[in-house]
Amino acid sequence: MKYMGSKRVMLENGLGSLIREESKKATRIVDLFCGAGSVVGFAAENIDLPVMAVDLQAYSVVLAKSILDRSSPMSSIDLEKKWIDKVEKNRIKSGLWDKALNLSTKIDIRAIKSYVEKCRELCYQNSEIGPIWNAYGGYYFSPEQALTFDHMLSNLPENEIEKTVCRASIIITAMRCVASPGHTAQPFQPTKTAKKYLLSSWKRDPLIVCKKVLEEVCNQYAKTLGEAYVGDAVKEANKLRASDLVIVDPPYSGVHYSRFYHVLETIARGDCGPVTGAGRYPAIIERPQSAFSNPSQSEEALTKLLTNLSKTGATVIFTFPEGKCSNGLSGKIIQETARAFFSIRKKIIINGKFSTLGGNKEKRAPRKASSELILLMRPK
Ligand SMILES: C[S@@+](CC[C@H](N)C(=O)[O-])C[C@H]1O[C@@H](n2cnc3c(N)ncnc32)[C@H](O)[C@@H]1O
Repeated sequence: MKYMGSKRVMLENGLGSLIREESKKATRIVDLFCGAGSVVGFAAENIDLPVMAVDLQAYSVVLAKSILDRSSPMSSIDLEKKWIDKVEKNRIKSGLWDKALNLSTKIDIRAIKSYVEKCRELCYQNSEIGPIWNAYGGYYFSPEQALTFDHMLSNLPENEIEKTVCRASIIITAMRCVASPGHTAQPFQPTKTAKKYLLSSWKRDPLIVCKKVLEEVCNQYAKTLGEAYVGDAVKEANKLRASDLVIVDPPYSGVHYSRFYHVLETIARGDCGPVTGAGRYPAIIERPQSAFSNPSQSEEALTKLLTNLSKTGATVIFTFPEGKCSNGLSGKIIQETARAFFSIRKKIIINGKFSTLGGNKEKRAPRKASSELILLMRPK
């Protein structure tokens, strides 16, 4: 699963070196739209300053906290013993586990559709273990996977830091196991062409995947402790200081991120109400809505954000696609709006293939050649 708008590639192509350089004059690094946490991870691991991370979505904050709340590595072996072993024991005790195995061991490769239907029926039975079985079992996950995820959630360690590290590991494991093309907006269906992808995802044992993920997460920690919380970047911008280096990477899609990542949000929250539609979406009230992803509000949100940021006196690194995006914003609009409050000291253009799902107005190809802007801005 790819993260829409992830800055992983850009960090190696100019963004990383700019953050390193500018951080020399700062006392803190702030990421106001932290997403999958690639900038947060880069800054926290490489720069000896506290990092503050903000996002509208709870799962982004869990991922960021798993790095920022620790300044030393953790033993993944201890967590495996304490947590994964317990999950392994508990999942096989459940009656639903036998029923799920019963279906998957008798799978007839010529009758995948009927197998998937039986899995869906099974997952309509109440599990009362966690939210994944009923909301996503038989769709994004096989019944065995769904039950495993629920046991992973219900057996989380008591200690807060361990809990965050394990929850972040479940989120990343779900990203690696999920049966969906790209994001969790729609699961694979058992059609002639998609059934092989569905089955290959459903075969992954989340516990095996999670052991590897846990090791990666345990070894990622901050040089200096930081903080992460759910918030609206526009309001949070008011609270910043002149000595902050602020990374701004707002949405460029006219479709809300929460439509693509509701499965991860459910894992972060540990619960979910009734779901509907082909994508198994929870009610809109459970899916954070962003003014930046609403074409009729995005310019106003941008102006408010830049006004608030400029009042603080902070230095800003703004990243955005150069062309026109489906939320109505473009690199040109960003620069024109910013010039009222900031002087643009540096402009880097990176050409590459970026995930544009719903993001680029001209063509909805999943990964498309585009230019991304990096702007270094200081208040006037
Ligand atoms: C382009 S992504 C950021 C990607 C991130 N830089 C990374 O490398 O993974 C935009 C993020 O902004 C978040 N977002 C949207 N509106 C927001 C708002 N008003 N305040 C805070 N976060 C917001 C979305 O949830 C999404 O995670």
